[in-house]
Amino acid sequence: MSAAADVALDEAIATLRPSEYTGALIQVLRAAPRRIEGASVLEIGSGSGVVLAAVGELGAASLCGVDIEREAVIMGARLLDRLGHGDVAQFHLGDMWQPVKGRRFDLVVANLPHFPMTHGRFAGRRPSWSRGGVDGRRLLDPFLQGLARHLLPGGRAVIAHNGFVGLEESRAILRPHGLALTVVSTVLVHIPTAKVELMTGDILEAEDGRSIHRYGPYVFADMHVVEIAASDDPD
Ligand SMILES: C[S@@+](CC[C@H](N)C(=O)[O-])C[C@H]1O[C@@H](n2cnc3c(N)ncnc32)[C@H](O)[C@@H]1O
Repeated sequence: MSAAADVALDEAIATLRPSEYTGALIQVLRAAPRRIEGASVLEIGSGSGVVLAAVGELGAASLCGVDIEREAVIMGARLLDRLGHGDVAQFHLGDMWQPVKGRRFDLVVANLPHFPMTHGRFAGRRPSWSRGGVDGRRLLDPFLQGLARHLLPGGRAVIAHNGFVGLEESRAILRPHGLALTVVSTVLVHIPTAKVELMTGDILEAEDGRSIHRYGPYVFADMHVVEIAASDDPD
């Protein structure tokens, strides 16, 4: 491999490193291994591929990753090969649902870029990692709108969902599709000052004391891991 390719690879490994969100998502998935065994799993925004690696280890039957970044697709495929899941894994380069049009899965997982910001980037990350538009919902909304079309009967999604982007708004999008959202776990994540400075001001103000908690210069926020599945409510 050339020196330039080595540098690109090192950069990809660093920028795609897992986050607290990744860990919280994996923790929820690991808590119910029987629900993963034999499942067909799709991850939108697969990044390093580590979430798919975790569900592969729990016995998922097939693993499919989609990411908009070429390096993520390469790194994800490499990781799963290295961990012995290469024969059941596939990765696609593309936007959200587009590469899996017409396909359905038992489980869809996602830790989407949904931080309310319109410009700038966090140190050591690509802009595509977190930037969720002015309200944080630029990718979350199309994900929720398209989800029902990609779930098998009895299927579900497990996703990271910042408290400050509005659980009720997500529930309202899912309801007409017969899907309901339940909070499975909540983690308090630290938001570094550089990130706070990029956050949409209106949301920062409105959520202060609600999903955002300040202790002097230190800012934390509620981050939920939610499950989305068919609603029991006949309405
Ligand atoms: C917050 S990171 C999560 C990565 C990984 N799932 C994890 O938890 O470590 C969001 C991922 O979504 C990808 N992404 C951003 N926009 C996307 C889009 N339109 N379609 C698919 N993936 C996208 C990014 O490249 C990045 O890998």
